[in-house]
Amino acid sequence: MKAIILTDQNEDKLDFVTLPKPSPATGEVLIKIKAAALNHRDQWCREGLYPSIKYGTVLGSDGAGVVEELGDAVSEKLLGQEVLINPNIGWGELPNVQHKDFKILGMPDHGTLAEYIVVKADRVHLKPSHLSFEEAAALPLGGLTAYHACFYHAQIKAGEKVLITGVGGGVAQFAMQFAVAAGAEVYVTSGAVDKISQAKTFGALEGFNYKESEWQKAALKTTGGFDKIIDSAGGKMLNTLLDIVKPGGKIIFYGATLGNVEQLNLRKIFWNQITLQGSTMGSDQDFEDMIAFVSKHKIHPMISSLRPLAQALEAFEEMKAGKQTGKLVLCP
Ligand SMILES: NC(=O)c1ccc[n+]([C@@H]2O[C@H](COP(=O)([O-])OP(=O)(O)OC[C@H]3O[C@@H](n4cnc5c(N)ncnc54)[C@H](OP(=O)(O)O)[C@@H]3O)[C@@H](O)[C@H]2O)c1
Repeated sequence: MKAIILTDQNEDKLDFVTLPKPSPATGEVLIKIKAAALNHRDQWCREGLYPSIKYGTVLGSDGAGVVEELGDAVSEKLLGQEVLINPNIGWGELPNVQHKDFKILGMPDHGTLAEYIVVKADRVHLKPSHLSFEEAAALPLGGLTAYHACFYHAQIKAGEKVLITGVGGGVAQFAMQFAVAAGAEVYVTSGAVDKISQAKTFGALEGFNYKESEWQKAALKTTGGFDKIIDSAGGKMLNTLLDIVKPGGKIIFYGATLGNVEQLNLRKIFWNQITLQGSTMGSDQDFEDMIAFVSKHKIHPMISSLRPLAQALEAFEEMKAGKQTGKLVLCP
């Protein structure tokens, strides 16, 4: 089968290779992948900025396809089903935090950027009928991360003022759509005006360009401050977010694309009784709830581009340059 692996044998760190087609063992299923999607972690792997990198691994945490073969002890009902894959491996029992042995599909285990994948049968879920394979492939990791951040941690409610930063991001566009569907008043930031315009067509009320100086003043003037902020940029931007979250408000962050904060304004955090909450992926229950939420509200992932798997390098470069609005999808 054709696959995209991480390699240290060339400058791109990616190789389009032929690997043996895998076979399902007891409790596993073989899925013929119809579409897969990138997450920033795939790019971090390529840049050597992800822990426990194993060269030769098929990258990709997101995928959707058709169950083609069953291992022993798997229900016959799964054969031929159109499914998407839960990328959690071993989340564990707790709803708020993952087990110490938790892994994510696509490093160090083989991922979805391939013609076939073998996963445990309990990792597959029926594809929501309103989604194409390409849309379903865009959903798993980003949708789960956004759902856990928005609803487990932020507990976003109707009528609250919510800011989603960097809305062009794969996770952020889900957070925006989920908050809109929950009835919140949703605002966004982006480094590109056209991404803000697109967000408004998905229900965001207004957007602010974080590349403009003092964008936070415009945000405060327009909104009076935010009850909840969902962020993945981190870095020095975090102190700016402290200026625009309301007293008693919450900042949930699931990434640190801009790195650590050099001087965190602790006085502002305790005086204004602000919650700073980290968030990672989500439990298997969150995954089921997220699919139900997406089905109920007929949410369609924003897809930035669709490419054949053989052109994966172009998709990685688009992500590296931050050009995408939403998810980058690859079809074997
Ligand atoms: N903890 C977890 O479970 C988890 C899960 C998924 C992702 N993550 C992390 O979250 C981050 C985003 O992941 P992704 O897959 O959504 O990546 P992505 O699709 O590459 O999106 C990254 C986005 O970051 C935004 N950004 C860049 N500079 C910014 C700034 N100064 N202020 C605000 N936004 C800025 C950009 O938004 P615009 O294009 O709109 O400017 C860009 O589109 C990554 O660091 C990733 O590792 C963590």
